[in-house]
Amino acid sequence: MDFVEQVKSAIDIVKVAGDYVRLRRMGATGRYIGLCPFHQEKTPSFNVHQNRQFYKCFGCGAGGDALKFVMEIEGLTFPEALKMLAERHGIPIPKRNEYSDADSRLRGALIEMHEIAAQMYETALRGPEGAEARAYLARRGVSEEAMETFALGVSDPSGQALARKLAAQGFSAEQMEASGLVRRRTEGAGYYDAFRGRLMFPIHNESGKVIAFGGRAMREGDEPKYLNSPETPIYRKTWTLYNLHRARDGMRKASRAVLVEGYMDVIGVHAAGVKEVVATCGTALTNQQVRTIHRHADNVILNFDPDTAGANAAERAIQLLLDEGLHIRVLSLGEAGAEIKLDPYEFVKQKGPDAYRAALEAASGYFHWLADRARGRFDMRSAEGRMDAFKFLLPAVQKISGNLERAAVANDVAGYLGVEPGLVLDQFKKAAGARRAPLAVTPPRVEIPAPERILLNALLNSEETRHRILPRLPGALEEVFVAHEIFKALEHMAAEGGALPFAALDARLSEQGRALLHAAASADEIGDDAACLAQAEACLRRLEEDFRRRHVDDLRARVKSAEREGDMQQALAWMAELSRLERDATQARGVSRVGGVVN
Ligand code: CTP
Ligand code: MN
Repeated sequence: MDFVEQVKSAIDIVKVAGDYVRLRRMGATGRYIGLCPFHQEKTPSFNVHQNRQFYKCFGCGAGGDALKFVMEIEGLTFPEALKMLAERHGIPIPKRNEYSDADSRLRGALIEMHEIAAQMYETALRGPEGAEARAYLARRGVSEEAMETFALGVSDPSGQALARKLAAQGFSAEQMEASGLVRRRTEGAGYYDAFRGRLMFPIHNESGKVIAFGGRAMREGDEPKYLNSPETPIYRKTWTLYNLHRARDGMRKASRAVLVEGYMDVIGVHAAGVKEVVATCGTALTNQQVRTIHRHADNVILNFDPDTAGANAAERAIQLLLDEGLHIRVLSLGEAGAEIKLDPYEFVKQKGPDAYRAALEAASGYFHWLADRARGRFDMRSAEGRMDAFKFLLPAVQKISGNLERAAVANDVAGYLGVEPGLVLDQFKKAAGARRAPLAVTPPRVEIPAPERILLNALLNSEETRHRILPRLPGALEEVFVAHEIFKALEHMAAEGGALPFAALDARLSEQGRALLHAAASADEIGDDAACLAQAEACLRRLEEDFRRRHVDDLRARVKSAEREGDMQQALAWMAELSRLERDATQARGVSRVGGVVN
């Protein structure tokens, strides 16, 4: 059994997809459903079939096997997804299976470099060179256990250790530059460490690989307070949530996530026994992060810092979370009226785990929190001020999906602010009218006809098929394909040799080509090489036949019009071409008795 087969036979799509999506079993047929991770939705249309080892979303059309799922959700190439699944299932990876395309090779090296760095930082924290950092952590109340759980470390103050180690391991200049871990010296040769003398927080991706670091200064006046890894081919800030890989089990069990702002907050909340805590790493919450949360939980408790920046960030976060249909509560740790304002970490440290958990349970619905914000912003003594406060809240209220719940919340909020119920209704009607309009705009969709699409999928999914079919594809036929651009790209990539990384193909295409590719790639089920080849053969025959028929019809029309115009010479020329074409057609039909049939 080859490596690909071995991996495929070891994995179960229900487990693989179930790691990322909450799946519910439907009856005894081995069908599971959940919220689609590939588009925004509030009712589940994502299906996983255990028997067929296949997933399909009826909402957005995404579909494929377990490998395709991992490629799509982790943004990996085929060999990367294969490697990741093999690692997870303890299947030894053959040496020759090294990544064949440049992008995957680079990402593989970056992951390795981050592993080395994380090890080095962690070891340093425990050794003699970690004394200052250990004292800092002790002063701030971070336990040994937390140090271990979060794999904290410390970077070399002289800025040499990591650069030397990576160079000694033979990483190339390109890999060094791209890693964000070291920087090129402006004078002289070589590199120095990007993180120097900082307390290091490793940042992991959802599958638990270190992909970046946050480094905190330990001395007063050392700026910036946090230094973070730049974006790299393995680290996209807007997609990453700090602590997700540790939190996701807890998020599922509790069906809730606690969302905080900082690394330290995560450590504090975790220490309070609340494991389902994640943080945005110092950036505004994004759609992708929200959707990631929703894959694992339906409820979110926002626990941002109780300063102005934190409150503004929370306000924006609420809108995004509402768009995704999540239930939101807000925990604000600023004590009413008092000057004491604590971030989650300090709160746990000063008041203890029990107090924190109690505060969490008592967190109020987001609209009460928003109403309190509005009260502070508008003059609540006048009727206009109260109305303005209500209008400020309206967009958030409008995002509640159930009509009844929306009306109830609106009344509740109006009562809380002291606005007349009649006015609330007016505002509601106005807003509902405005809300309907933008929804109607859907982009026009171009579809690839079935035989062309099936041919394309067979080519995408089987190297063997590409090898055999692409050279036989008539140029004139290809010209008329809807997905002409994709076929051309496939030919170019085949000419360059090697495997076909989906991402690399994707990257070659125009926006429209990409849309076509995505729609097509998820439309059909994927068979093995033999099935792909048979399908491709059959489709190609059918397409050629159609093409020829259209060409024949066209020539007949030309002959007729030439005759009508009395241009006999032209008519004869067209007729000669016509009979040549018909002769070819008979020959083609003669050899086409083998293989399947496409309907
Ligand atoms: N942050 C950052 N760069 C900064 C300040 C903050 O990237 N200069 C990010 C970090 O991810 C940080 C988060 O924003 O964890 C929250 O900032 P802050 O509350 O200042 O940090 P804490 O995590 O609370 O750390 P500490 O308690 O040590 O101040
Ligand atoms: Mn903080």
